[in-house]
Amino acid sequence: MPPLVAAARAGARASGFGFSCTDGVGRLLAALAATAGDGAVGEAGGGHGVGTAWLRSGLPAGARLVTVERDPARAAATAALFADDPAVRVLAEDWQALAGYGPYRVLFCDGGAKQGGPDAVTELVAPGGVVVLDDFTPSPDWPPTYQGRPDGLRLAWLTDPRYVTVEVGTATNATAIVATRR
Ligand SMILES: C[S@@+](CC[C@H](N)C(=O)[O-])C[C@H]1O[C@@H](n2cnc3c(N)ncnc32)[C@H](O)[C@@H]1O
Repeated sequence: MPPLVAAARAGARASGFGFSCTDGVGRLLAALAATAGDGAVGEAGGGHGVGTAWLRSGLPAGARLVTVERDPARAAATAALFADDPAVRVLAEDWQALAGYGPYRVLFCDGGAKQGGPDAVTELVAPGGVVVLDDFTPSPDWPPTYQGRPDGLRLAWLTDPRYVTVEVGTATNATAIVATRR
C-alpha cells in the first residue's frame, strides 16, 4: 500500500471516519490517474484523503490533482497530508468548485457530485476523459437493480450516449462505474 494511503487511512480511523474508498477502488483510481498525461485529475468529496492518496500514487509527472471536500476538518486533514506536494490542491468547498480547475482527464465522482448523474459533471470532463464512481452493488439483472428496484443512477451512466461505460468489480460485493467521454 502506498505510504500516503496508509497515512490517510490512519487519520480517517483516528477521527472515526468510515467512508473512505476500499483498496480495490483505490487501485482502480491509481490505474486511471496514470492515464492523465499532463492534464488534471479531480475528486469530488475527498473525505479523509484516502482516495486522494490513491489517485496521487498513480499521477504522472506533470499532471495535477484537485480534490474538494466540504467538511472543513476533513479537508484540513487532507491538506496537511499533501502540504509539501505542489501537484495536489485541496479545496475546502462544495464539489462544484472543481469547475474552476478543469477540464479533467480523470474525475472521481464521489461526495456531492455522484447523485447528479452524467448531466451534473460532463462539462468538467475533457473529451476522452474518464469518470469513475464507486460503491455499487453487483446486479445480475438488466436493467440493473438495487434493493429490488431499477438503479436509475447506474442505468444513467451505462446508457448515456456521451460515454463508453463499463461496470467493473472492485470486491466480491462491490462494483464501480468507469465511463470514458467520447
Ligand atoms: C464517501 S466519502 C469520500 C471518500 C473519499 N472519496 C475516499 O475515496 O476516501 C464522501 C465525502 O463527500 C463529502 N461531500 C458530501 N457532499 C459534498 C459536497 N456537496 N461537496 C463536497 N464534498 C461533499 C462528504 O463530506 C464526505 O466526506
